Amino acid sequence: MKGQGLSHKLENDLVIRAAMGERTPNVPVWFMRQAGRSLPEYRAVRKRGSILDTIQDPQLSAEITLQPVRRYGVDAAILYSDIIVPTFAVGFGIEVVEGRGPVIRDPFRSEDDLKRLRDLEPETDTAYVIETIKILANELSVPLIGFAGAPFTVASYLIEGGPSRTYVKTKSLMRLNPVLWHQLMERLTRLAIASLESQIRAGAAMFQLFDSWVGILSPSEYREMVAPHSNAIFRGLAHLNIPSIHFGVGTASLLEQMAKSGCTVVGVDDRTGLDDAFRITKGKVALQGNLDPVNILIGTEAALNESRKVLSASAISPGYIFNLGHGILPESDPEVIKAVVDLVHEKGAGLREDASKP
Ligand code: CP3
Repeated sequence: MKGQGLSHKLENDLVIRAAMGERTPNVPVWFMRQAGRSLPEYRAVRKRGSILDTIQDPQLSAEITLQPVRRYGVDAAILYSDIIVPTFAVGFGIEVVEGRGPVIRDPFRSEDDLKRLRDLEPETDTAYVIETIKILANELSVPLIGFAGAPFTVASYLIEGGPSRTYVKTKSLMRLNPVLWHQLMERLTRLAIASLESQIRAGAAMFQLFDSWVGILSPSEYREMVAPHSNAIFRGLAHLNIPSIHFGVGTASLLEQMAKSGCTVVGVDDRTGLDDAFRITKGKVALQGNLDPVNILIGTEAALNESRKVLSASAISPGYIFNLGHGILPESDPEVIKAVVDLVHEKGAGLREDASKP
């Protein structure tokens, strides 16, 4: 059975077509972290408490998801939710602290902690997510992107107990107790598949797997400790036949493997040129990225100049979606973001064509 996302006729399906490898007549654009703190209209409607409270109100979550689509005219919406929602929903004991991120009072330490990661039953555990997507499927004229955290990135939060710079605890568990590591990864893989499958059946037209922090691993450790699990997610959802994006930060040395996961798009961070990413992935997948989010803070001129360079570098890849190399920074000026969207829509295809000429 196909996801309802595909049966819903969309006015604008550029993102889907680009994600399937098509050179589209206009360049589609959306931004990671487009829904959220950089928008004054978000701060105006957001409830007190954490994001985990706000997302349990489907009307409000749908509204927050729609805000950037209205303001910027982006070609895709991304669900307002978070990568730790499935672990939160099965009762692992996780919170999100503003300005810090996910925090766990009792981090994952031993085999006993596997019991705290039972299977997700989306219809009951995350009914509010399904409800939000159903509202959106009726409202949107652009595709809705569902998402999940990749097992490695979610595991890193569960093991560290919060954000980390060095990942000492994660690497220790991985290297000292590989059996437990793989058991944990298998649990998180099942959570991600169940969550994504429910999002797609409710109306998400494609999905992104966020492996934000996996760039700290070597290619050989990625191959052994991470790839089997992340790849199982793409394989497990292949029967739904929708495009999928595989993203991480600092992944130049991992892109080749990430592209072989079964995804249709690789998300490229801003430390890797799109032309290099194309060569590394041998053109087997479409590309997404990769404007440095800091350029938005430098000002309109810099943001537009650097966006032009990104568009030129993207010319080599037929399937291409403009995005940042990582999420929008909270202090970004919405006017600058809007100027980038307009540039991509008005000049993107032409800049790609010019750059293709010898
Ligand atoms: O616009 C969107 O991208 C959709 C919503 C979204 C959020 N988180 C909302 C959110 C998405 C796709 C995410 C993914 C996510 N969450 C990732 C992967 C993407 C990435 O940036 O690498 C990661 C690592 C997380 C974990 C997490 N949750 C962090 C690091 C934070 C930020 C902490 C902070 O306040 O600086 C959160 C909380 C969070 N998730 C916020 C939002 C809008 C901010 C808090 C809030 O406004 O309630």
